[in-house]
Amino acid sequence: MIGFNYKDGVLYADNVALPALAEEYGTPLYVYSAGRLRENVDRLRSALQKALPADRQPLIAFACKANSNLAVLRLLGTMGLGSDIVSGGELDRVLTAGIPADKVVYSGVGKSDEELLAAINADILQINVESRAELERIAGLAEDCGKKTRIAFRMNPDVDAETHHKIATGRHDDKFGMTRAEIEELYVWAHEHDFLEPYGLQMHIGSQLTNMKPFREAYEKLAAFATKIKDQGLPLRNLDLGGGLGIIYKDETPPDLDAYAEIIRDIILPLGTDITLEPGRFIAGDAGLLLCRVSYIKQSEQVRHLILDAGMNDLVRPAMYDAYHEVRPVVPRAGDMVRYDVVGPVCETGDTFIRDYDLPETRKRDYLALMCAGAYGFVMASNYNTRPLPAEVLVDGDKSAIIRHRQTVRDILDLDTIPGWLTT
Ligand SMILES: Cc1ncc(COP(=O)(O)O)c(C=O)c1O
Repeated sequence: MIGFNYKDGVLYADNVALPALAEEYGTPLYVYSAGRLRENVDRLRSALQKALPADRQPLIAFACKANSNLAVLRLLGTMGLGSDIVSGGELDRVLTAGIPADKVVYSGVGKSDEELLAAINADILQINVESRAELERIAGLAEDCGKKTRIAFRMNPDVDAETHHKIATGRHDDKFGMTRAEIEELYVWAHEHDFLEPYGLQMHIGSQLTNMKPFREAYEKLAAFATKIKDQGLPLRNLDLGGGLGIIYKDETPPDLDAYAEIIRDIILPLGTDITLEPGRFIAGDAGLLLCRVSYIKQSEQVRHLILDAGMNDLVRPAMYDAYHEVRPVVPRAGDMVRYDVVGPVCETGDTFIRDYDLPETRKRDYLALMCAGAYGFVMASNYNTRPLPAEVLVDGDKSAIIRHRQTVRDILDLDTIPGWLTT
């Protein structure tokens, strides 16, 4: 089996029963399916292979921010994927995982000098520049290092990605990217600079897109602008189209991968450049779940609360974006459904995974799975309420392995110090 399926009334990850993982590693526990990760890459690749010639296949640079566990990155790296990073820490992660620097692109509006220097010295494929000030800083640092540095300009296409407002990134007043007028001027400046190599353009309009229309609109704008740049005799080797492909959390229409690949074929391919994609959620989202346990059942006047051992510090998406995560019983009981509010233990009303949710009768110490938590799950976890970060496990067929140990309270406390003048 691949992914998360029931067998004989028990939920499995690939061929491993979830209760066995819970007993071995404890809960809350992130569980990833290697089979599903591979399948997602294959699904995207086969759509691209159908639409685009063999020698024009895009570099798939997995958006590391979605899931940056070293084992996950290693698995994707062995499949030939590169990575889109947004920090020096992520640069370290992808290189440690064995992803070659020439498959790494670096986005983000606030890169520090140290982070930029690390990227310049690692000779990554391209740094995606988000502002004039950042370009000037890269130019200075590249010159100090004596290293000609490949940069791409992040274009803000001013399109509405038709997604949650907190994960839309391509509207004119979002903090990301630059206007075409500004890029045009800076492209010439960079071309004339001894230590910069303008390598192309990049964009990323938002996340969890299931409708292809915003992609088409944005890519048309990108292609028209790329043509303008090329017509001026400026070099343009790569068009980086960002990520954004959505997944099915609840009842969304799945993104039409063939249509997506055909949009790239029709709009981007004729420009003759290399092509880069930065999918994150699409690859990792439904390849992971958060396994947790019921700590208490609390019957209030109107509501029956299922209080889990996982909270918003472990999976913040519902609290942060009102995101929906299906809750599945790991070993469902027969009988009528019961209506619950599924909540965490954190002292916030926002620590609610879902309200008015029908589940088979559920008892204290039962295991539940919060589905589709493989992207923007563990990576967003925090120590709020001094709750240790959960562990992560990777399952591959019959095998399972811990890929991140559970943090302890001691690990957290060890970073605090009490000044001497408070101890005397
Ligand atoms: C620059 C950039 N590229 C790629 C991604 C990945 O997006 P997604 O996970 O929706 O594919 C993001 C996420 O917001 C991003 O900011």
